[in-house]
Amino acid sequence: MASEATQADPVAGGAPRLADFSFPSPEIAACPYPFYQALRNEAPVYQYPGRNDFLISRREDILQVMRQPEIFSNRLYLVDPLSPGADRREVLEAPPPGGIISTSFTLSHSDLPEHSIKRQALRSLINPRHIHSCEAAMRRIANELIDGFAHRGEVELRSEFANPLAILTICEVAGFPAEDKDTFLSWRRGTINQGRRFLTPEQLAAQPREMEGRVQYVEAMILDRAAHPRDDFLSEAIQAQIARDGEINLPYLTGEMGLVLGAGSESTGQLIANMMRLLIEHPDQLAKVVADRSLVPGAVDEVLRYETPVQCTSRLVMEDTEVGGVAVPKGAFVLMMYGAANRDQTWSSPEEFNIERPAVRELSMAFGAGIHRCLGSPIALAEGRIALEVMLERLKNPRFAPGHEADRENIENFEKRAPKALHIQFDA
Ligand code: HEM
Repeated sequence: MASEATQADPVAGGAPRLADFSFPSPEIAACPYPFYQALRNEAPVYQYPGRNDFLISRREDILQVMRQPEIFSNRLYLVDPLSPGADRREVLEAPPPGGIISTSFTLSHSDLPEHSIKRQALRSLINPRHIHSCEAAMRRIANELIDGFAHRGEVELRSEFANPLAILTICEVAGFPAEDKDTFLSWRRGTINQGRRFLTPEQLAAQPREMEGRVQYVEAMILDRAAHPRDDFLSEAIQAQIARDGEINLPYLTGEMGLVLGAGSESTGQLIANMMRLLIEHPDQLAKVVADRSLVPGAVDEVLRYETPVQCTSRLVMEDTEVGGVAVPKGAFVLMMYGAANRDQTWSSPEEFNIERPAVRELSMAFGAGIHRCLGSPIALAEGRIALEVMLERLKNPRFAPGHEADRENIENFEKRAPKALHIQFDA
């Protein structure tokens, strides 16, 4: 288990050493914390041997990157992630796109000023009144999902609760067709993103090739909704784009709505499964939140810190610079290791899971930072809170079902944290 492995070594005088790790590896995907500890101790800004990639593992250094979006670009599509550094330099000479919405890439792959226009176009999704008005539906969906298995006294929580709740919530909030939830669920395969360039050709070939089908689906959904608008975010976003630009920009809308659908469901499903796993693993913390529901929001924040669903993201370096005193050249990629920063020296007893830890929400890197900080964090926090309240109410005395230990291991993906499956029992 992650916490055991991390806590054991330093006490024994055997702090983990960078030289003992190969990144990425199945061992790191299973439990990254000893590797993160070695990174922070030995090289908090670490150049991956023989490559133009730097792993950044401390909160302060990540914030330094986030404060300079003009140097650390999100236009990662400029370069093939697998291309050598020399090729990157060539494309980096290209001028930045001008105009309004000049590229079809999503806001998470855009820089200023284009990024702020795209982000503004999605603001109504996270209007506090809108989210509040969706909370009753989130609670109803959570209860209906539990109605489906409550009589059994056991469940595989990811597939029967966490993932469908996350999908159905984003459908409710954004206006995507809930009747297609099984299609959306079939897309959730834990695809590796920028981390692709660390994979071997064999691993790359094994990556799911489902993107084409997704794009076709989202395009058809947008065209249908453009022709038949309803009273929801999706229809509004389409109408606003047409009103602004004079005609429909299908590639842009497809990218953006695909992002909302994917980003809006995958990580939240991970959070919900992580909450139940960590509370069962820490019975003292479970007892506290069962006895006092005012601890629920703090528990959600601490789960996000302790098992950060999005472990890392990347930026492309646009000019020679430095991070944490280390020279980082133009054309390099930097990986912000959010999962490592969430256990760095910012925190007292960082390896301890403590739902009463102060100021977690303010300091946590779980949603990133700066101009690209998670747009949907208010949705994720409301959904996490409601999911935990309903689970505590309905799934009494939760415990791991015997015989499924291997399923609880992390999904085979170093960019994400969540159990592959979570078989639990409860008092029916
Ligand atoms: C527990 C759940 C979630 C986690 C842990 C999470 C995490 C993150 C992180 C770390 C980023 C920053 C990426 C970067 O550094 O470039 C991000 C961006 C983003 N997230 Fe989330 N997210 C969650 C839920 C959601 C939800 C519910 C939505 C719904 C709309 C959403 C939409 C987005 C979008 C659109 C961006 C891109 C923002 C930008 O580039 O300006 N996320 N998320």
